[in-house]
Amino acid sequence: MRIDIITVLPKMFDGPLNQSILQRAQDAGVVEINIHNLRDFSTHKQKSVDDYQYGGGAGMVLMIEPISNCIEALQKEASYDEIIYLTPDGVLLDQGAANKLSTLSNLILLCGHYKGIDERVRQHLVTKEISIGDYVLSGGELAAAVLTDSIVRLLPGAISDETSALTDSFQDGLLAPPVYTRPAEYKGMKVPDILLSGHEANIDKWRHDQAEKRTADRRPDLRE
Ligand code: ADE
Repeated sequence: MRIDIITVLPKMFDGPLNQSILQRAQDAGVVEINIHNLRDFSTHKQKSVDDYQYGGGAGMVLMIEPISNCIEALQKEASYDEIIYLTPDGVLLDQGAANKLSTLSNLILLCGHYKGIDERVRQHLVTKEISIGDYVLSGGELAAAVLTDSIVRLLPGAISDETSALTDSFQDGLLAPPVYTRPAEYKGMKVPDILLSGHEANIDKWRHDQAEKRTADRRPDLRE
């Protein structure tokens, strides 16, 4: 898979994309992630990428021209399945959406900033709009990093034990059951006996029951 991220703040991706599973997936060639600085596609002397909004009002708006230039340059290198704009008024990201996106080959993620982006970008260039939650972030960068992580961890070869992404919360409409590790007892707090029993079928059933209970307690909406 190839993911191209367009941003005015490329440094924001230094941390999140270069650790743990995301870094290993890139090292293993499972995914290629490229960060593009929108300013590099500005034709203005000052490399500006935003301007005042027509009709007046506070806040700068990202211009269509550099975004269009960047997308056109990328489309000369690859054919993209989706051009995704991260925005709080997009469709809410969930596990099903991440699963679907993980089956695609090439994605562009466009991060908004300031007051937003020129509406013509959304109407004519973007193919999908995604929100990571009902709250407003300062820009689309953190949302793009979250979306990238949710997709890349699902790619074959990204996680050494492939089954572990399939047993994540939400994959079967259930939250994940509790997990424990050593010691078996800490300051009087004990690991449930069943997990120490070695009886695989009983353990599987216990885990499933716990997942059902946790989901009913915390997220009954997932079962509807
Ligand atoms: N940009 C700002 N807030 C956002 C959100 N909640 N989801 C996606 N992109 C955003």
